[in-house]
Amino acid sequence: MDLYEFQAKELFARHGVPTTSGIVVRTPQHAKEAAEELGCAVVVKAQVKTGGRGKAGGVKLAADPQEALERATDILGLDIKGHTVHQVLITPASDIDEEYYVSILLDRSNRTFLAMASKEGGVEIEQLAVERPEALARVAVDPLVGVDRAKAEEIVDAAAFDASVRDQVIEVLERLWDVFINEDATLVEVNPLVKTPEGQVLALDGKVSLDENASFRHPEFDSLVDSVETDPLEVAAKERDLNYVKLSGSVGIIGNGAGLVMSTLDVVAYAGEEFGGQRPANFLDIGGGASAQVMADGLEIILSDAEVKSVFVNVFGGITACDAVANGILQALELLAGKGEAVAKPLVVRLDGNNADLGRQILRDAANQLVEIVDTMDEAARRVAELAAQGA
Ligand SMILES: Nc1ncnc2c1ncn2[C@@H]1O[C@H](COP(=O)(O)OP(=O)(O)OP(=O)(O)O)[C@@H](O)[C@H]1O
Ligand SMILES: [Mg+2]
Repeated sequence: MDLYEFQAKELFARHGVPTTSGIVVRTPQHAKEAAEELGCAVVVKAQVKTGGRGKAGGVKLAADPQEALERATDILGLDIKGHTVHQVLITPASDIDEEYYVSILLDRSNRTFLAMASKEGGVEIEQLAVERPEALARVAVDPLVGVDRAKAEEIVDAAAFDASVRDQVIEVLERLWDVFINEDATLVEVNPLVKTPEGQVLALDGKVSLDENASFRHPEFDSLVDSVETDPLEVAAKERDLNYVKLSGSVGIIGNGAGLVMSTLDVVAYAGEEFGGQRPANFLDIGGGASAQVMADGLEIILSDAEVKSVFVNVFGGITACDAVANGILQALELLAGKGEAVAKPLVVRLDGNNADLGRQILRDAANQLVEIVDTMDEAARRVAELAAQGA
């Protein structure tokens, strides 16, 4: 889960990383009031979960409250790489002598952590990394040792920081490691880390990604999830503990087991080409021991997606046998009808594995007009794509 800059800086402050705080607002008028409250020149900064905001016109200096209002008017509503700006951070403008870059991240390919640092930070860091990789120091960090004083010194010396800021940057790296390890982050990045004319080192920007697999030990993660950036169907699915990802097609997909669902997406996308490019509308894995309630929850989420024209239920019976799944589907349809959400979109069901014959028989006996049973995955994918095309 990526955090906004203001959330990242709140974590920095909590762990002793020197940074500038600020006020988050959603309207130009509030931007003006925030600038009045801060009582100094400010920077108006778009809060979107993507980099390169400065280059896209999302970071602007404002000398006084009236200018803050004007800059906020410019920036609010801006589209930055597909992210609409709904909120801006009003933060004190800092005088900057030098801009540096530091980060700590999970290095998957080397199965370790990695620290990176450069005394040439700022908005061109990506270019620097490509054109002059030697100017960006990379130091592996042993997960069992972390960034202790010795490691921080190694990083700072690898990047050849000036003696005048060496101790401060070492301290910042140790504090950032605290953030990284105690908050269960996979990325902590500061660009720019600046030196002010007074010689103080400050984090002016912050990027943090948290590892959602660790959310069980961080009840506070919940409050960081924002419903503005997250798809409303994904929010609803999460509330019901469903493994759901919204995609942009027309064929709703329910399956049991992540691998089966992934291959279902593939066969549907492939079959859909024949029917005007029908594509899967979502990923939804209801897991192994799916009850009628889970099936109902899953169907409800998928059917409330206006883009969905047909649904493919693809289940391989294992511990939960196909007869139980078939009964689950029927109960789910009843549950939804009982809630006044009667299913009106066609369902193609493919059951295989444990008790498949019995499961299919149960569905045939129920004779629901909207439910079609197809025996193989490929044929089912073809049929569901065809139905989606007809419903479009
Ligand atoms: N509080 C501030 N005071 C003065 N200048 C600032 C301040 N915040 C940012 N800047 C300037 O604006 C530039 C861009 O800001 P920032 O790094 O926060 O956004 P960004 O462009 O999204 O960065 P990134 O691409 O790293 O995500 C900085 O490099 C810095 O020069
Ligand atoms: Mg930046």
